[in-house]
Amino acid sequence: MTVVNDADILNRVGNTPLVALDSLSHDGLTYSAKLEGHNPFGSVKDRAAFWMIKDGEERGILKKNKSIIIEPTSGNTGIALTGIANLLGYKVEIVIPDKVSDETKDIIRGLGAKVFETSDDLCPKVGAGTDQSIALATSIASSRPDTYYSPNQYANDANFRGHYEGTGPEIWKQTAGKVTHFFTGVGTGGTITGIGTFLKEKNPHVKIIGCQPQQNHLIQGWRNFEESAKPDLFLKREDVVDEWVSANNDEAFSVVKEVLTKDRLLISPSSAAVYACMKKYTMEDDDACVVGIFADDGRKFKSVYAKQNVMTGEEFDASLKDAKHMSELPY
Ligand SMILES: Cc1ncc(COP(=O)(O)O)c(C=O)c1O
Repeated sequence: MTVVNDADILNRVGNTPLVALDSLSHDGLTYSAKLEGHNPFGSVKDRAAFWMIKDGEERGILKKNKSIIIEPTSGNTGIALTGIANLLGYKVEIVIPDKVSDETKDIIRGLGAKVFETSDDLCPKVGAGTDQSIALATSIASSRPDTYYSPNQYANDANFRGHYEGTGPEIWKQTAGKVTHFFTGVGTGGTITGIGTFLKEKNPHVKIIGCQPQQNHLIQGWRNFEESAKPDLFLKREDVVDEWVSANNDEAFSVVKEVLTKDRLLISPSSAAVYACMKKYTMEDDDACVVGIFADDGRKFKSVYAKQNVMTGEEFDASLKDAKHMSELPY
């Protein structure tokens, strides 16, 4: 029997696999996906949560068995903060838009967080008067400032640093410095600015490509900049983005089965949107090395895929058995 202790779980944040996407690679072009679902609580957000909690501890703001962490989130940050905070001895309260998938909300509750639902859009909007989940979290936190700590992923530089010091160097090493194009979506901007800044320091010619969903989209974790202001964290380093590519809901959902059949990966809506953007982007270099962030896997989206006619519940269950690269998760 292998005994897994808390430190082992926290040591598993980062160092996620980079896997080839055979469905897109051809001739001299190689495409690969960084499978962030392999973080211990199942998404790219484990990195931001871990780095923000550690930063709060180092700055003396978080006190074991006393502090309550509160955060507005569209899902993965809630799962990550709750999972990691549990291991480190903090309580968590999460404010979440009710459009987020039921599976996501159940996981957060199951991990032990108190969950408040608000009736606003899928991704908490940033900007005066536009968002209920951020407003509610702020108001709860300000009622007892000595107890509550909101990491505020939208402005917290530790979120950026997790990618600048972690994900960026991992991609550089995993591609042996060959990466030429990098694709990701944007929620807070931590991922794109952290990885983008690191890669450009290594090679200023690497193209950083931001992926945008349509307005009123169904891509959990992403933000459309026409309907929602840019977060402070993103604004600080937005010049790192060279180009934007858009994928609407239909384009994203339409590739889920294609990737399942051709690459045997059960992917999430945001990974599908990244894939759709990589696929439609006209690649001019003959020997490009393209990397995309797959922020989580498809496990939490059975209900979304059934509702959007991507696949039936039975097809979903069958694909779970058949899919490659599924990590072990504690929920
Ligand atoms: C589901 C999901 N969450 C979060 C992110 C990135 O978030 P952030 O910009 O907050 O680092 C992505 C990026 O692709 C994503 O797909």
